[in-house]
Amino acid sequence: MARSWSFSLQNVLLNRNLRFVVSFCGILAALWLLVFIYKRSALADSKIQSISSSLQQQQRYFKSRPAASQDPPHELFLHYVRFKPDDADGVTLRFLDYLSVMSAVQRLKPDQIYLHADMEPTGKYWDELSSRGWIKYVHRAKNFSLTGRIKQLAHIYHVSDKTKLDILVEYGGIAIDWDVYFVRGERIRRYLWNHSALTCYGDQDGYNLGLAGAWKTSRLLHAWRRSFQVIYSKDWNFNCGDVQKYVSEVFAEEVYVVDRVCNNPHPDYQLADFFQQTGKIHWTDSVAIHTYHRLWKNYFVSSPEDLKKAPPSDYKELLLTIYENRTLPAEDVTFNDRVDPLAGIDF
Ligand SMILES: *[C@@H]1O[C@H](CO)[C@@H](O)[C@H](O)[C@H]1NC(C)=O
Ligand SMILES: *[C@@H]1O[C@H](CO)[C@@H](O)[C@H](O)[C@H]1NC(C)=O
Ligand SMILES: *[C@@H]1O[C@H](CO)[C@@H](O)[C@H](O)[C@H]1NC(C)=O
Repeated sequence: MARSWSFSLQNVLLNRNLRFVVSFCGILAALWLLVFIYKRSALADSKIQSISSSLQQQQRYFKSRPAASQDPPHELFLHYVRFKPDDADGVTLRFLDYLSVMSAVQRLKPDQIYLHADMEPTGKYWDELSSRGWIKYVHRAKNFSLTGRIKQLAHIYHVSDKTKLDILVEYGGIAIDWDVYFVRGERIRRYLWNHSALTCYGDQDGYNLGLAGAWKTSRLLHAWRRSFQVIYSKDWNFNCGDVQKYVSEVFAEEVYVVDRVCNNPHPDYQLADFFQQTGKIHWTDSVAIHTYHRLWKNYFVSSPEDLKKAPPSDYKELLLTIYENRTLPAEDVTFNDRVDPLAGIDF
């Protein structure tokens, strides 16, 4: 018993030395670990800093660099395209077409409006617009050669879609459909001042070629046009709508995706509101309205008399505003018409 007591006392004494040594080593190890961690994190910090500063430099580079390789164009051109149907003798400019051009004259005020067509139109509306110098006819054949795998476009719509993009590459400016009417069109000039492309939001699947704008040098425009030769699809909406959305994502830095134009009214579910009701569609603050009137078969406005007789609707208000060159209500400054093409993508 005594032995074991003295033995254990010795143990305790020994342990005390041991404890001292162990604690000493422990403290040394802890100090070393602290220094090690500190050094590692300082290294990591400096790595992170150098990565983030190089990212910032890159971002600065891309931001300071114009979105396309040139300065914004000094002049703004507006382009219409019209090809004569094969079975027609000529082309007449109709009242609704005339109103679209007038909406541009009043509310976009481009430096020049061009009609690219394979035949000069006729009719009193054409005579009035062209004699006043508001629109200029430029001859353009319906044919073009495709140099990619695709040698022929399947659908007549694709011919004018591709022609619109060809024209933007040649001239720059804005290309629109005849059923697009400018409202707060003046803002477009501002958007194209520091964005080399403007695309028109449709829905979450695809955009719309009712209105498109670009500098001649826009990378988005060139990539989009090229799609007709390399990833062309017979689905009529693919190259004009789906590819437009796709290139807007790829060139998100240079594009202004405009909202409340090609989806206001929306062709799938708001046409009745627009053509039969008043106050349902907030159209007075959009830069333009794509009416899709060919989809609304209930009536067709072919003259000022037709327009005045038409039942009340937002559509009628829009057309009368142009026909009578009415003053718009005060602008809603909170109106947002920009869509982030990358919204909803989880990076
Ligand atoms: C439309 O009205 C404005 C004044 O509100 C006028 O300055 C402009 O010249 C008119 N435009 C046309 C095409 O008549
Ligand atoms: C297009 O047609 C015109 C005649 O209208 C012809 O001179 C031209 O060579 C054709 N171009 C192509 C690419 O086929
Ligand atoms: C363009 O200008 C507007 C305001 O003037 C600004 O908010 C926007 O960030 C600019 N965009 C680019 C791509 O520089």
